[in-house]
Amino acid sequence: MSLPSVAIAGATGAVGVELIRCLEERDFPLKSLKLLASARSAGKTMTFRGEEITVEELTEDSFRGVDIALFSAGGSISKKYARAVVDAGAVMVDNSSAFRMDDNVPLVIPEINPEAVKQHRGIIANPNCSTIIAITPLWPIHQKNRITRLIASTYQAASGAGAAAMEELEEGTRAYLEGREFTPSVLPHPYAFNLFSHNAPIDPATGYNEEELKMVKETKKIFGDAAIRVAATCVRVPVLRAHCEALTVECERPITPAEVKEILSTAPGVRVVDDPARNYYPMPIDASGQGDILAGRIRADLSDPSGRSFCLFVAGDQLLKGAALNAVQIAELL
Ligand code: A2P
Repeated sequence: MSLPSVAIAGATGAVGVELIRCLEERDFPLKSLKLLASARSAGKTMTFRGEEITVEELTEDSFRGVDIALFSAGGSISKKYARAVVDAGAVMVDNSSAFRMDDNVPLVIPEINPEAVKQHRGIIANPNCSTIIAITPLWPIHQKNRITRLIASTYQAASGAGAAAMEELEEGTRAYLEGREFTPSVLPHPYAFNLFSHNAPIDPATGYNEEELKMVKETKKIFGDAAIRVAATCVRVPVLRAHCEALTVECERPITPAEVKEILSTAPGVRVVDDPARNYYPMPIDASGQGDILAGRIRADLSDPSGRSFCLFVAGDQLLKGAALNAVQIAELL
């Protein structure tokens, strides 16, 4: 088979830059790479494998000759160009939430459901970052002792809201320290030395925000298990690029922390960081730039005397496993 031609839509964004780096670092076999962004970025150059590539404006005609189109320019852009991608005979790997819950679109974490890729009809969705970071470590446990319930509390970085939000966190912090007025324009609340409920819109029917509902729905779809009960509280914290999550997990049968640790020690895409003697556990600073999800604070859930529940704390790079890396792994499966 000849090597694929790849395009990145949203190449200049926070995830786009990491997509380029992942293709480079994983030695992704490709014939050519096309970088696409808005008209604002057209003409700018970016480096890939030591060569300068000129960014082109994303248009309906961008996908002629393209085999795989990695999209990370927001849901409305994905929806706008999906038809053009599919009509050009390319496969879209989409980072946005636009198609995730569509029955005809596989929602894939390669460590969990790689076989789902085969069912694509031109579009494959990359799951929400908080979902990926929570459930990649949980899958090997689910296979050994079915998980019946998950309660997640997230500590989410600025990167999930894009490069402009990361800049806003830096700029807002600088202004705070210098005693200057600063009015946020990307995120709804002051971010420096603060935290706030995730900025996704609230669903009036449930009171949950859309980020939380993504975790609920996507977990069921990816695990292929409609019965798993999930509740989440999603919060933005002033961290640049790695999300943390406190997870409380209930299994069908009793499970010990030692068993959880044993399973996680060989789980693909996971690294156990669990050192009570040093009080050293997963931190965003250690997860940043890493492909693996860090998992630790593995302990029994003292609120469940049946012994079927445990607690876990995870940290994962939102831009890598939470977005770009997972998308490139999907492209590798293709
Ligand atoms: P640009 O840099 O030209 O604005 P982030 O998630 O970090 O905010 O990045 C969003 C990405 O999506 C950027 O690469 C951005 O390009 C791109 N993008 C935003 N709006 C459009 C658009 N209308 N057409 C094409 N690309 C877009």
